Amino acid sequence: MKPRHILLGVTGGVAAYKACELTRQLVKAGHTVQVVMTEAATRFVAPMSFQALSGRAVAVDPWQPLVANGMDHIDLVRAAHALVIAPASADFIGKAALGLGGDLLSTLMLARGDVPTLLAPAMNREMWANPAVQRNVARLRADGVRIAGPARGEQACGEVGEGRMIEPEDIAIEIDALFQPKDLAGRKVLITAGPTFEPWDAVRGLTNRSSGKMGWALARAAWERGAEVQLVAGPTALDEPYGVRWVGVETARQMREAVQAALPGVDVFIAAAAVADWRPAAAQPGKLKKQSGEPPPVLYLDTNPDILAEVAARADAPYCVGFAAETDNLAANAQAKRLRKGVPMLIGNIGPQAFGRDDNACVLIDANGMTELPRMDKLALARRILHEIAARLPNDQS
Ligand SMILES: Cc1cc2nc3c(=O)[nH]c(=O)nc-3n(C[C@H](O)[C@H](O)[C@H](O)COP(=O)(O)O)c2cc1C
Repeated sequence: MKPRHILLGVTGGVAAYKACELTRQLVKAGHTVQVVMTEAATRFVAPMSFQALSGRAVAVDPWQPLVANGMDHIDLVRAAHALVIAPASADFIGKAALGLGGDLLSTLMLARGDVPTLLAPAMNREMWANPAVQRNVARLRADGVRIAGPARGEQACGEVGEGRMIEPEDIAIEIDALFQPKDLAGRKVLITAGPTFEPWDAVRGLTNRSSGKMGWALARAAWERGAEVQLVAGPTALDEPYGVRWVGVETARQMREAVQAALPGVDVFIAAAAVADWRPAAAQPGKLKKQSGEPPPVLYLDTNPDILAEVAARADAPYCVGFAAETDNLAANAQAKRLRKGVPMLIGNIGPQAFGRDDNACVLIDANGMTELPRMDKLALARRILHEIAARLPNDQS
């Protein structure tokens, strides 16, 4: 992610303390952050906390400007790559929807021009559900403002419901997404990720070294471009992905079922999961006991369904992208797999240099030839892959 200059507006709500953590995370990621607080926000967190975390004086009062010409209300947003209001109070949302500029932050909102703008609302669930607030939010959306959240959960007031600000790490993800093209808006993307686990007995099974990281990165990259994303994942140690629907499965057969259930209306299917080719022919209900002196048990295998080939063979198949984890002869093996599976695009990578790592390199093969994507972190690679996929989709979405 390129370093950006973020103008972070903090308004008066309990979640203001989380904006400190957001500031810390953005600075750690290499961005610069200029914080602007409303008067009410300074009742919750002292400006000094933000000054220390951002390394910059905090702007609060337009009559005590930071910039030499006194034009904080214009210049601070002119210098910004993005305007982020977190938390956004009901009061601020109302002012912004109406176009009022009674204080520094609301005036900056008026002066923002085409600077990408994101609001992370935070308030009591009844406040959020209030028709006036919903009306204001709808207006802001129509004005091109990104509304991130709110989330459901426990609230500072003790109630439980929708209104919590989304977590700082998720706001950081939303900020990154502001700078991505939206060429998958209106598209549905289905992605499989991770390994499968094929039980042999109650405690043992066959699996592989796939971590799910590539599938997670692809899901995020597709979501960033505006797609509605459904992720079907085998067992992984990864946190729940932000912004995408996901369902967890264990075996190849469960993955096939979940994929088929999710398939209607899907435009793109990306099979990034490392699905076990075989499963123990008969899973034992209990634990197989080791008997001293007995020979080891023989493990018989059955062949698992080929989820990708099945989807690709359908008359109403979406645009299908397969992954091939090879150990050698990458280009030739990946090309052969593309033809065998009958898919328009195949991504080949070297399994031992991909599984579990945060970075990866691959070759992208379609009917027109092969493109090499050099080693980079998996999110960057996923963005490149999604760029290539988006460019190949038919324009007609009807
Ligand atoms: C203890 C306390 C907590 C509050 N929490 C919130 C909140 O989470 N969300 C919200 O919209 N307003 C909240 N308010 C009300 C706002 O602080 C109030 O509307 C204020 O005028 C907002 O000003 P601002 O939008 O200029 O920051 C809270 C008020 C108090 C006293």
